[in-house]
Amino acid sequence: MGLCLLERYRHLLPLTDKTPVITLGEGQTPLVRSRHIGARAGCSELYFKLEGCNPTGSFKDRGMVMAIAKALEEGSQGIMCASTGNTSASAAAYGAYCGIQTIVVIPEGDVAKGKMAQAIAYGAHIVAIDGNFDQALSLVRSLTDKLPFTLVNSVNRYRLEGQKTAAFEIVDELGEPPDYLCIPVGNAGNITAYWKGFTEYKAKGLASFTPRMMGFQAEGASPIVKGHPISSPKTVASAIRIGNPASWKGALTARDESGGAIEIVTDDEIINAYRLLAREEGIFCEPASAASVAGLLKLAAKNLPLQDKRTVCVITGTGLKDPEMASQFAETPIKHLPADLKTLEEHLRSLAR
Ligand code: F0G
Repeated sequence: MGLCLLERYRHLLPLTDKTPVITLGEGQTPLVRSRHIGARAGCSELYFKLEGCNPTGSFKDRGMVMAIAKALEEGSQGIMCASTGNTSASAAAYGAYCGIQTIVVIPEGDVAKGKMAQAIAYGAHIVAIDGNFDQALSLVRSLTDKLPFTLVNSVNRYRLEGQKTAAFEIVDELGEPPDYLCIPVGNAGNITAYWKGFTEYKAKGLASFTPRMMGFQAEGASPIVKGHPISSPKTVASAIRIGNPASWKGALTARDESGGAIEIVTDDEIINAYRLLAREEGIFCEPASAASVAGLLKLAAKNLPLQDKRTVCVITGTGLKDPEMASQFAETPIKHLPADLKTLEEHLRSLAR
């Protein structure tokens, strides 16, 4: 067993001798080279960072392990978060592992089934509010000011500290940063964390340049692109259905300092990328994650020169989080047949190419 995330990057994380080193096996996620989508985009070297391979199936575990370790160090008895589903799944898992109370506040009816199942299974106290994510976050921010619970949304600075390790891993594996990093943007914590990671590596002489940060918001939930909060954000990608991102400023800094961009992708473009990833690359992600690839394809269509450029798309969460989405957008219908050898054989012969 190698070093865990907190140990591996200890020298670059705000840990003390008193911070408990905990792990559920987060980090060290695969960086997989594209076989087909890169060619479609005219991008000679495209990789997918598979954050769905983290213990609870999303990138949130990197930040959560750090936030919970610090909460334990500070003697916290419980944690609280608002979530579109992945943060709550991750908080509930680490809360269970560390034996502390976890309270999650979610927008009623807006969280994908797999993520709900996780929070339930890990034994979190779940409060579903009749409101959206932005309202849930505003409520937990007020509540954690008054109650003895540690807020573990990405406004907790330790979350971003943990999440920046994904940038370190990419540079460690490629030897240099990519030219472009494509990433979905919701509450904007992750783009902020990656930018922090890349700039810290450069400052320490561990990378000679930084990538252009290319963030993508869903069209109906694109406050940063529009330049104002959206009171009722709408998109098929429930994880990034956010109208007033907490790390708005961080996202603008990442964009501007890196010479990058934050752009819109439509739901159709997201679903197209979601299908392509599964059918051409063998990568089943959740819709929000596909926004990074939808964005890359959009930039390619606008003639962004990607030839001879190295690009990484962050695939933030696994498709198993949202199984209903797969059936809703399935292209291959299920054939129902009797358990009969002859019928089955005939059917399969008709398929054989
Ligand atoms: N992708 C997935 C799968 C997510 O769950 C999220 C955010 C994002 C992308 C966007 O990342 O918020 O740092 O810009 N999910 C949060 C949650 C909001 O509650 O699980 P971000």
